[in-house]
Amino acid sequence: MAETGIEYEELFSELGRSMQPNAIRKLTPLIARGDIISLAAGAPSVETFALEELSEIAFRVIREQGRSALQYGPTRGQAKLIQAITEIMHARGVERTSPSEIVVTTGSQQGLDLVARVLLDPGDIALVELPSYIGGIIALRNARAELVGVRQDAGGIDIADLIEKIARLRAVGRRVKCVYTIPNFQNPSGVTLASDRRHRLVEVAEEHGLIIIEDDPYYDLYFTDNRDGFTPLAALEGSRVIYLSSFSKVLAPGLRTAWLAAPQPIVSKIELAKEGADLSSSMLDQAIAAEALDSGLVERRLPELRAFYEKRCRAMLDALARHAPEGSQWTKPLGGFFVLMELAAARDATELLPRAIENGVAYVPGQPFFVDDGGANTLRLAFSKESPENITEGIERLCRIFSGAPS
Ligand SMILES: Cc1ncc(COP(=O)(O)O)c(C=O)c1O
Repeated sequence: MAETGIEYEELFSELGRSMQPNAIRKLTPLIARGDIISLAAGAPSVETFALEELSEIAFRVIREQGRSALQYGPTRGQAKLIQAITEIMHARGVERTSPSEIVVTTGSQQGLDLVARVLLDPGDIALVELPSYIGGIIALRNARAELVGVRQDAGGIDIADLIEKIARLRAVGRRVKCVYTIPNFQNPSGVTLASDRRHRLVEVAEEHGLIIIEDDPYYDLYFTDNRDGFTPLAALEGSRVIYLSSFSKVLAPGLRTAWLAAPQPIVSKIELAKEGADLSSSMLDQAIAAEALDSGLVERRLPELRAFYEKRCRAMLDALARHAPEGSQWTKPLGGFFVLMELAAARDATELLPRAIENGVAYVPGQPFFVDDGGANTLRLAFSKESPENITEGIERLCRIFSGAPS
């Protein structure tokens, strides 16, 4: 680029200056190599995209509804899609949701960004799980909130630690505003919040006047026979949960179509924030999603998707059981895309990554998911992208590296 003599860094806002590439973004060039087995990429498998059906739907939508589908649309979303989402909320057990309590968002990522913007002032405290989703962390940090981590174990967020953190922060006059949680098959840990803790979490939020930001994009991708254990927190409590979910994992993330459901006053405020962000989500994408729901495409494919990802998850867990070095442990997800592996305490997953890549396997070191800078010995393993055979091979290679003496 030509030298301009301008110090651009000085032009940026404090927030702009604080924005730095996250760990996953930095990894992207490394894992773009075609010969890498990527257990890093957390995206859905492209094999799951219903190309034939979606091209037929896209063609039909433009031909039959082009005048509205190619126009700007209502900020809160396309009416037919909002109606379909309302029904999805009811099917997930959130029976009181009305269409006026829904906002269609350009991905759940936009939902998180808007929620953070209308909820948080600089210095407010947002409580997040240890570990938590990087995109959620970014959205909360962009609102200049201070993030405080709450321990998590195999049953999800640790309620005693949550209560203790709230008390400690309040005792020194801090404003604790919200808890951000991903209760089902969490990204990055794969952990699911236990049923009794769901009730406790809602009670604690009520007792302490907190908002719960419930991020649930993997809800439909469960590997068990029934979904009783995955009931949204929003079904248990109606007045302080902002629920977000998405069509990214069950249809296609390129449609950037997701939603949030929240009490009316919050929805009204988010609608105003969204107007400043994008006026409205793409009407074309929304119309395609609405048709995919109306035609039964989404519902019909869910059992296949669950079987598809479950097979990959099984390949990963089997390979870990066979090859993981002594002293390591890993989560056993009931759905979703991710396993979190914890190496023996002295190992550092960031330091081990170059050797893994030399050996043709990529993963994401866990540390950036921990807002307390912990988790150096952890790594996220995604089973969404690679075939079961590649997953088995990738885990075998990784475990050979992890079994070596610390360098
Ligand atoms: C927990 C979590 N929340 C939100 C998102 C963003 O999803 P969307 O594609 O709807 O923006 C993701 C995507 O990976 C995620 O894992």
